[in-house]
Amino acid sequence: MSHATVVVSGTKIAEEIGTSRSEVWRLIQQLRELGVDVAGHPATGYQLRAVPDLLLPEMLAASLKGTIFGKNAAKHIHHYYKIGSTNSEAMRAAADGAPEGSVFLAEEQLSGRGRGAHTWHSARSTGIYCSVILRPPMPPSDALIFSLAAGLAVRAAVAEIAPQLKVDLKWPNDALLNGKKFCGILTEMTAEVTRVRHLVVGIGINVNQAKFPAELRDIATSLRIETGTEWSRVELCAALLKSLDREYHSLTHDAAARVAIMRRFEESSSSVRGQKVSIEENGGLAGITEGLDERGFLRVRTENGSQTVISGTVRLTGTS
Ligand code: BTN
Repeated sequence: MSHATVVVSGTKIAEEIGTSRSEVWRLIQQLRELGVDVAGHPATGYQLRAVPDLLLPEMLAASLKGTIFGKNAAKHIHHYYKIGSTNSEAMRAAADGAPEGSVFLAEEQLSGRGRGAHTWHSARSTGIYCSVILRPPMPPSDALIFSLAAGLAVRAAVAEIAPQLKVDLKWPNDALLNGKKFCGILTEMTAEVTRVRHLVVGIGINVNQAKFPAELRDIATSLRIETGTEWSRVELCAALLKSLDREYHSLTHDAAARVAIMRRFEESSSSVRGQKVSIEENGGLAGITEGLDERGFLRVRTENGSQTVISGTVRLTGTS
């Protein structure tokens, strides 16, 4: 994001923040290391040439007013330059009583987690690594719908900033562009038998990656790879959180929302109906997808009749 501004002398900055010119120089160096584009030096003064695309609470707060993620944003949007996993941090904070609507964002994850035993490639300041805390008044058996709703929120957010892209959702938690994955969702929770205590929805979006490690090259993509241009992570993240807020609000306030989400998910997925699939986990199963059941689980017609898939990775094996 380019924001050319005036040149300000080191002395003036030092006076304003009550420190020395050499301390200002040290702080400017620190900002540069974080990717802030500041021109100049102590003799000429400094000029902020571009505001970095960092997922800072200050950059997001204004857009999130009126949403559950905008309440006391300065306190409840947590930003990390480097962290193990935003989901782990959010789960820890939720167990310690962090309020619903708390958001955890990282520039880089050192041990980003995917579903099952998978990891999530989380290179510095190229993707969105975001986890939110929700406390829906619902039993744990209803939790899958939040993951499906998060997929729809990602789809709406991408449509808002890059309408030319057609996001295809893959049950339960993947979002694809031209058959390659650019987004994964990891929903975790702590629950009693009858009620969810807290839910953490973790969303990883590949935004500005120009390439991926060899093992991901054939299966992963990013908005940049698909469009040839870089995208503002701040804009996309704000659109995502606003859209997630809308989905969550309707799920917790409108009795008809659950069925509507299931229907919209089916409409947004090329593979949830009429697609030949195999699922390796849980004993293995192969057949043709038949849509979602009333809880959001995948139905597959196999040679032994219709079966319900409650978890596992769906592999597409061709059209029916
Ligand atoms: C998957 O596709 O397997 C799910 C990937 C989820 C990745 C996100 S990135 C933010 C959050 N923190 C994590 O450690 N994982 C999720």
